[in-house]
Amino acid sequence: MFNSEQHKIVQSQDGSYTAYSKEYDEHYHSTKDGALKESLLKHVVPTMNVMQNTDELNILDICFGLGFNTLATLYYHKKYSSHQRLNIYSPELDAKLIESLKEFTYPEVFDEFKHIIEELSTNKIYIDKDFHIEIFVGDAREYIKGFKDKFDIVYQDAFSPKANYVLWTKEYFRDIASSMKNDGILSTYSIALATRLALYENGFNIFLNKQEGIRDATIASKQILKNFELVDMKHKISCNLDAKSLRD
Ligand SMILES: C[S@@+](CC[C@H](N)C(=O)[O-])C[C@H]1O[C@@H](n2cnc3c(N)ncnc32)[C@H](O)[C@@H]1O
Repeated sequence: MFNSEQHKIVQSQDGSYTAYSKEYDEHYHSTKDGALKESLLKHVVPTMNVMQNTDELNILDICFGLGFNTLATLYYHKKYSSHQRLNIYSPELDAKLIESLKEFTYPEVFDEFKHIIEELSTNKIYIDKDFHIEIFVGDAREYIKGFKDKFDIVYQDAFSPKANYVLWTKEYFRDIASSMKNDGILSTYSIALATRLALYENGFNIFLNKQEGIRDATIASKQILKNFELVDMKHKISCNLDAKSLRD
């Protein structure tokens, strides 16, 4: 049985199932955008497109949850970027959740990764010729301190700042920045000014991720990215003088 004491299964707008967490009082994905659509359009497609000319990618998936971002990355890889070797690192606090993922009803497009889900759910690691995927059961804040200049892509997909404050602070993003390569790219569903400020104060440029059919999201990079609209942070700050990033 999927871990149903703490979670309620909910069908989202695009037909894919997500979960509602009783502990955090929040859904794992936007039920309006749809779990699969959100994962693909807010995280995987925009970041993988930027990184398509790299032979090997190191990806930090914050946090594993139901694993949609990791699985959608494998799906994208199979369709468009099978020349790339992918190393995916994903912290997740909830060991029970991971163990119960073999029982979760995933969208059909993930059927071909069933063996990977089973392996991750049981052993927290999966390795083959294309992929190295590891789940770290523990605190993301501690985990990210172990990496320097490592990640090409970061999926920032924690519960909202209201529900999970510690994964959105300026100090948290300082450690994220230091774990990333200088030309790394970060995606998040959050468009909150406090989130964008926390990234901006750590040297990131902020871009709008606008995609047909879903709500706007954010892309961040120390580089200037040609295919995204740059958010004028100086102007935003001057219009919102009281706005502050979250702090530890
Ligand atoms: C919004 S869900 C992630 C959804 C996931 N990306 C997906 O596609 O299914 C947030 C997850 O963060 C986990 N979490 C909360 N605090 C954490 C922490 N400090 N370290 C690691 N994981 C954490 C929760 O258990 C939950 O599974």
